Amino acid sequence: MPFSRSLKIAPSLLASDFSQFGAECRAIEAQGADWVHVDVMDGHFVPNLTFGPGICAAIRPHISKIMDVHLMIAPADPYLEAFANAGADVISVHVEAGPHIHRSLQTIRALGAKAGLAINPGTGIEAVDYLLDDIDLINVMTVNPGFGGQTLIPDQIEKVRRLRALIGGRPIHIEIDGGVTLANAAALVAAGADVLVAGSSVFKGGSPANPAPYGANIAALRTAALS
Ligand code: DX5
Ligand code: ZN
Repeated sequence: MPFSRSLKIAPSLLASDFSQFGAECRAIEAQGADWVHVDVMDGHFVPNLTFGPGICAAIRPHISKIMDVHLMIAPADPYLEAFANAGADVISVHVEAGPHIHRSLQTIRALGAKAGLAINPGTGIEAVDYLLDDIDLINVMTVNPGFGGQTLIPDQIEKVRRLRALIGGRPIHIEIDGGVTLANAAALVAAGADVLVAGSSVFKGGSPANPAPYGANIAALRTAALS
């Protein structure tokens, strides 16, 4: 996984057909997805439940590129090894999810995965200051985590700009998660984002049996983001 700041589109499986994860992963990759974003929710840290490492392991053979696992669970530490064993390339943990984020990030790297730090909309960039050498990615939550299909909170774009300046030349991805659309993609990339998670805006109109809309949605997002 060589580092690059070129744009990556990461469809979120949260907006896919849960009865067909394997087929959905194959379809979005064939239609141009760069990463596959996998949202793990525990009904405790966030008010919604999805699935755990067993499902991640089951879908892994259907992903040929990057499996990007976003843990919205607390505590996260007892499960990090299970998600690494499931084949996650990137594991993101929330700074708000426990008292020892530094330890969690070190554990993720020790398990051989890239370490991601997710921050909620109400969390400032100072949360990242003393973790810059310990992370490979910052997931900027641009909605309150828990549900797909929400509207991006506009002031988060300024946060992305400030994070980008803070990161400087370090090889740290800035990932945007929540409410990414054709209308805001360019502003997000201009502010410094290089990974755009997109659930609703990629999966709308398509299915594994009719995957062409996924390709059109991904292409439109890429064009809008780079315009
Ligand atoms: C929200 C998740 C996001 C979400 C994105 O808690 O982390 O990944 O699924 O979905 P959209 O693009 O529909 O906002
Ligand atoms: Zn996510």
